Amino acid sequence: MWKLIIISYFTFNILNTYSFIRANIRHNIKHNIKYNKYTHLKSSNEIEIYNQNNLKKNVNSSFCYKCDKYENKCIKIDDCNRSEQDTFSSNDKSNIFYRFGTNPRLAYPNDKGQLTWYPIGFKQDFGMKPKRITIRDINYVVWRDKNTYYALRDCCSHQGSSFVLGNICKNTISCPYHGYIFDGNNGELVQIPKMPHVDSHTQNIDFFKVVEKANIVYLNTIPLQNEEMKSLVDENSIFIEPEYFDKNQRCVFLSEDFEHYAKFVSVNSLDICHIGFVHTFGNRKNPNPLYNSKVEQMDDYDNHYKIIYEYMAGDKSLVNSIFKFNNITVENEYALPHTTVARVKFGNFSSTIVTYAQPISRFKTRLFVKAYRNYWSYDMRKSENQFLYPLLSLTNLFGDKLTYNTMFTTLKQDKSIVDFIDKTNYRDMHGRFSIIYDMFSNHYKSNYKKFYEESHDMI
Ligand code: FES
Ligand SMILES: [Fe+2]
Repeated sequence: MWKLIIISYFTFNILNTYSFIRANIRHNIKHNIKYNKYTHLKSSNEIEIYNQNNLKKNVNSSFCYKCDKYENKCIKIDDCNRSEQDTFSSNDKSNIFYRFGTNPRLAYPNDKGQLTWYPIGFKQDFGMKPKRITIRDINYVVWRDKNTYYALRDCCSHQGSSFVLGNICKNTISCPYHGYIFDGNNGELVQIPKMPHVDSHTQNIDFFKVVEKANIVYLNTIPLQNEEMKSLVDENSIFIEPEYFDKNQRCVFLSEDFEHYAKFVSVNSLDICHIGFVHTFGNRKNPNPLYNSKVEQMDDYDNHYKIIYEYMAGDKSLVNSIFKFNNITVENEYALPHTTVARVKFGNFSSTIVTYAQPISRFKTRLFVKAYRNYWSYDMRKSENQFLYPLLSLTNLFGDKLTYNTMFTTLKQDKSIVDFIDKTNYRDMHGRFSIIYDMFSNHYKSNYKKFYEESHDMI
C-alpha cells in the first residue's frame, strides 16, 4: 500500500513538472519571445501582409500555375509537368520583350555601388517565403533558397501586384494576381500561364544583388540589367566588424523601428554625451568623456572612421557594479552610410554594439543591432570547456539573456528621444551649434552629406 502511495506521489510530480515545462515551451514558441522580439516590430505594410498570409494559410488556396494544381506549398520546379513549349525560348525573349524600370537604369553600377548597400535584416529573417523590404519608399521582394538570395522590385510588370503572396520554386516566383512566373536570377518573365508565346505587353522586372555578410543581409539598390552586372557591384566594400571573427565573442540580435531619418538614428549611436542622460547605465554626474582622440580614417574599408574616448563608468553600469571598473575606453566607429560601432573596453573585457540602419522612408528607419561580449562567453566547441558543459552553457545563456534585456531597454530609451527630434525644419534638426564632443557625429554628418546625400540627390 505504502509503495503504491509513494509511486503515485512521484508519478504525479513528474507528470506535473513535464506539463509545466511543456506549457512554458509552448508559450515561448507561441509568443515568439526572447531572442526574436524584433519579429514583432513590423511596419504597417508588413502587418497587413502578415495577416493576409495567415488568411492564405487558413483557406489553403495557393495555386501552382506550373502544375495547374492547388497546392499547400510550392512543388519543386523539377517535379512540375510544365512542357517545353510553355516556356519562352531565348530567341522569343529577345524579340518580344523590352525592359523598363521605375528607377532610372544605369549602364554600369555607379561608383561600383559602394554606398548603395542597405542592411535589410538578419539571415534568419529570410527563407523560401517572399518577404517585402522597403528602402526609401521603394518595395523589393526578397527570398532565400539555402544560401542564395534573390531580390526583385516588388511590383509585377503585368499589373503592379506585390509578389509577397506568390509561390517560390527555387529561383522563380509566381505573381499571386495572374500567375506569371519570373526568374529571381535576372528578373525575366519566364512564363504566362497557358499562353506559350505572347508577343507584347510583357516585360522583365528590375532585379538586385543581395549578399549576406556576418549574419546581416544587404541589398544593393542599383537595378541590374543583366547577370554580368552583378559581378561589377562590389560587395567587398561592406564593413564587417572584427568581433564577428573572434571565437571568444558571443552575440545577440535585436531590432527596433524609429520614426526619423536613418542618418539621425546612426548619429544617436555615435553621440557619446547622451549616454549619461538617456541610459540607465550612463554617468549623469560626469556625462562628458575625460579624453578624446582625433578622428582617424581606417584603411580596411572605404569611408570607415574611428575616435577613442576615455569615459567614467556610471554607478549603475555593469562595468562598475559587477566588474568594479571606474574608467572605461569607448571606441566609436562608423562605416558609411549606415553602420556604427560602439566598443566599450574594460580590463581584458569588451562589450560591442554594432548598428545597421535601414532607411524605410523619409522618417522611418529600422535599426538592426548586434550586441557582442567576451565575458560570460564560452566557446562550447573547445575541449577544455566540455568538462564543465552544463555550468558554462548556463553562463552563456544567462549572459545572452542579460545582454538582450539591457539592449532592449537601451533601444527603447534611444527611441523615446530620437523619434521626437523635430522634423519640421531641416536646419533645426541638424542643430544650430555643437560642442567639442559632438565632433565625431558632426564628422559623420558631413561625410554622409558629401558621399551619400549628394550622390543620391537627397537633402
Ligand atoms: S499583376 Fe502579376 S501577373 Fe498580373
Ligand atoms: Fe543611446
